[in-house]
Parts: sequence; C-alpha cells; structure tokens
Amino acid sequence: MSYRTLQAQPLTPTIGAELSGVDLTQPLSDEQVADIRQALHDHGVIFFRDQPLDPESLKRVGQYFGELQIHALKGLPEHPEVRKLHADATSKHVAGEEWHTDMSCLPVPPMGSVLYLHTLPPMGGDTAFSSMYAAYDALSAPMKAYLEKLTATHDGKLAFGRFDPDGKYPVAVHPVIRTHPATGRKLLFVNRGFTCHINDVPQDESEAILHYLFKHAENAYFQVRFRWTPHAVAFWDNRCTQHLAIWDYFPHERSGFRVQIEGDRADYAAA
Ligand code: SIN
Repeated sequence: MSYRTLQAQPLTPTIGAELSGVDLTQPLSDEQVADIRQALHDHGVIFFRDQPLDPESLKRVGQYFGELQIHALKGLPEHPEVRKLHADATSKHVAGEEWHTDMSCLPVPPMGSVLYLHTLPPMGGDTAFSSMYAAYDALSAPMKAYLEKLTATHDGKLAFGRFDPDGKYPVAVHPVIRTHPATGRKLLFVNRGFTCHINDVPQDESEAILHYLFKHAENAYFQVRFRWTPHAVAFWDNRCTQHLAIWDYFPHERSGFRVQIEGDRADYAAA
C-alpha cells in the first residue's frame, strides 16, 4: 500500500505497520490525516517513533480522527481527555494487563486509542496487538455461521470491579461478529477483558464458546508485538484489534499518556 505523504513499513503480513515521514508534534495537513487514517484501516495498528508529544499535542493528534472520550478512569486535571499511564516499583497492577478491546462495555466503544510513552524500562514493556479480522477469517465456516446469529454482553465490572466492587459500571450488548464500518471486513468482537457471556444460550455453552474464542483471538499468528522506544506512539483501531500490555518489567518505570477517540454511534445502531 502506498501513501502520498508518508511511508509505511508493515511489521507482519497480518497486522501493524511503522509509519515514517510524519511529524506528529506539528499540525497535520488534510492529506496527512487521510493517509494516517488509511494506514490505520490497512494495518489495524500503526506506530510512530521519535514524536516528543505533550498532553496538548497528543490531544491534537487524536482530535483529527474524532472527538476525544473522557475515560471512566480519571484523566489529567487540566486535560480530562488525557489519561496518564504510569507503572513503577509501587504498582500493584497496570492498565491493560489482560487481552482486551478498550471499553467494549460501552454501547459505542471508542474507535481507537493513541498511546504515547516517554519513559521506558531498560527491557520489556512491549504491547501486543491481535487482529480480529484474522481471528474471524481463521474460524471454520460452521463456526462463523453459528456465531453470526449471536450477541454477547460486555460488562465494565469484569475489568474494573476488582478496584471497586460496589462501583457502577457500563454494560452493553454487541454482536459477536461485527462488520468494520470503514473496511467492510468481518471481525470477531468478544474479548477477555469485558465480555462476560453470550446471550440466549445456556451458561455452560456460553462459557465453553467464550473460552474457545478468547484462546482463538490470542493466537500468535494474528499478532504483532511492539517494542517501544522513548517518545514512540501507537495508534490502534479499537474496532478490529485487541491488545495486551506486557508487565514484565517490574520494578522499573514505564510512563506516558493516552487518549481515546469516540466511536461513531451510527456504526453501532446499524450493527
Ligand atoms: C492499554 O491497555 O491501553 C495499555 C497499553 C500499554 O500500556 O501498552
């Protein structure tokens, strides 16, 4: 795939590309934004190196692609759309340490997230991404036909309940197989982080099918693993990928910021 304003180096045949020739610290032209959007659709997750962003410029990058979401977990006081990500020797957990699609418990989950890291451990701290197009494509035809008719419930309590068991969390129902609104490709839309059961089937069937689908979605052949460098940026399409933050660097520090871009209500109403 070639682009007018940037270069893309695919990292696997399935998912992920590193983009170069674009400076995210500066305002972007319409052509650059169109190319970045196209690269995101082509590769599911895109990476940029050496982009010393601050919360303001990270917000600007995200806003080219949609409205920014105020996350259920707290944002920065002066930039509520920007969430700080930080882990060090005092951390008891890190964000995203289980395979997930961001906030699929919302009726309209984010279309994407942009994560910027400025401080990295001496080794480790990669993020793994898995293509839900590849996961769908690899299902057998009978399994595709079975799943096509099903919906699943996604519950925020599954992801956040351990921090506050009495909290109120969003719950949403989504089709198990969705069609990406921009690419028209079919994808698997259940994830270990938020999906609690498949609707309208017996509980043991739901558990068995979800167990199978979670394992299937995490197949290494559907994945790219991003090795971060200071001031790198990852922009993932949350509609067709899952990701996992690999916390193998304790007690070292890993820090940065992220924004989430609102999904399009119309895409979910139509699903
Ligand atoms: C997340 O799940 O959003 C965090 C990803 C990461 O820290 O690598």
